[in-house]
Amino acid sequence: MRHASTLDLSSFENPKVQDQLDRARKQIAARTPLLAQSLSQIQSSLTLFAYATGVALYAPKLIVIIVLGWIPAALCGMHFNTVSYIEEKNKLPQRRYLDYLRNLVASSAPAKEIKGYRLADYFIEQYASLSNALHKQETHFVLRRTLVTSLLSCLGAIAQLCAYLYLIVAVMGGGLSIGGFAFLVMSLLRITNLMQSSTTGLTQLASQALYLDDLYDFLSEKSRMTEALSPRPFPQRMQSGVEFRNVSFEYTGAHTHAINDISFTLRPGEVIAFVGENGAGKSTIVKLLSRMYDATSGSILIDGADISDYSTDDIRSNIVTTHQDFIRYQLRAIDNVRFGDILDGANEERIHRSIDYASAAALIAKLKGGLRQIVGHLFEGGVGLSGGEWQKLAIARSYMGRAQIYIFDEPTASLDAKSEQATFSRIKELARGASAVIISHRFSTVRMADRIYVMDGGKIIQAGTHEQLMATPGSYSDLFTLQAAGYR
Ligand SMILES: Nc1ncnc2c1ncn2[C@@H]1O[C@H](COP(=O)(O)OP(=O)(O)OP(=O)(O)O)[C@@H](O)[C@H]1O
Ligand SMILES: [Mg+2]
Repeated sequence: MRHASTLDLSSFENPKVQDQLDRARKQIAARTPLLAQSLSQIQSSLTLFAYATGVALYAPKLIVIIVLGWIPAALCGMHFNTVSYIEEKNKLPQRRYLDYLRNLVASSAPAKEIKGYRLADYFIEQYASLSNALHKQETHFVLRRTLVTSLLSCLGAIAQLCAYLYLIVAVMGGGLSIGGFAFLVMSLLRITNLMQSSTTGLTQLASQALYLDDLYDFLSEKSRMTEALSPRPFPQRMQSGVEFRNVSFEYTGAHTHAINDISFTLRPGEVIAFVGENGAGKSTIVKLLSRMYDATSGSILIDGADISDYSTDDIRSNIVTTHQDFIRYQLRAIDNVRFGDILDGANEERIHRSIDYASAAALIAKLKGGLRQIVGHLFEGGVGLSGGEWQKLAIARSYMGRAQIYIFDEPTASLDAKSEQATFSRIKELARGASAVIISHRFSTVRMADRIYVMDGGKIIQAGTHEQLMATPGSYSDLFTLQAAGYR
């Protein structure tokens, strides 16, 4: 978890890293007896060595016969372990897909829609056919492994038989006393037992070690974003604010720019808004501004210094974002709020202020357990909330910190008109000290911004106040008129 938390957002969006993470997560739980196994392996090797030395002093040929008989089985064990490891590794994307299908059909969040569209049978069939195919491959492999291993174990048994015959002949020829015979037979028995268990143990150890590679693979995955070695202290109060200067950004693996040559400014105390069609690049700007990604070209300046000169921690505590896809913490209501400032989250006064700012006081009053009420259906005693109620908690969360910039990506999509009005009058109030960025498709929300940027295809195509934009023919006035017409 600690290592995963150091990775950047683009790593989490990479399926290969997801595979690695999954392998590391699964392996680490199953591999804990590694140390105990290594130690017991050392112990049995020492015993084996002592017995073998004893036997070798009496009859060196015996040892040669036994070892020769054992080598093929041991090599074959190693071989099948490696093959099984590689096959499992190749199957991982399919296994993750199976997990995903299982979650779709058998967990609470998707249940509504899966039932609504009657998709359960479809996904169950998909699951069954893929898991049957995997199962078939596995059965095939296990059969092959059993067959070959059994044949090779026969070799070992034949070698043992030869050794006993050799001893019997020696006794009959008078070259070995009965006492010596008893000692050697006992020792041989021990040796073959120990060798068998060592083979199993060693092959298991070797495969454990292979699986451990997965963990190290994952641990070697590093964040691609650099952290300033001696970060510039974040301004207590920003003077010139934020400036995007010719910023472009391309997602890894994408062929086009999500945003292309964007320039804008956000001064302290200002509220600016971005509008534009789906996929225009609004959320991408937000993610760049809170340094979830680094711009592909151009620069993002905070009080004149490049954003990468500041520590990520400072950026995150000064620029707070309520994301379009915020988290619904299935914990207590108070947790959903105090997580906005985990270092000072016990401050009741601030919790109540934030709740008030987010128009969530009535919601908290309605909860049977008040702030301590568990919300969400996941755990015992939890109560369900509506979409807008979850959103109010998320907005309250963002008000907890002492940020200088508040970003709201579609903050009021689920809020009722009254709450929306109240929330935005708060933003204006807040912005007197801090600044805010609002992204919304509702023009009634957007029009109160000091400056509005209209985006299209990753570019800013218009900028100005509501009045200025309405006075110019173009995208904004067209869209505003379209929305307004809907209300008439
Ligand atoms: N994580 C991602 N990886 C790759 N491409 C992405 C990712 N997120 C967004 N994109 C692409 O970048 C473009 C801009 O997306 P963005 O999320 O910024 O749009 P948006 O303006 O916020 O849209 P919406 O109004 O639907 O929220 C889209 O074309 C999208 O396909
Ligand atoms: Mg968006």
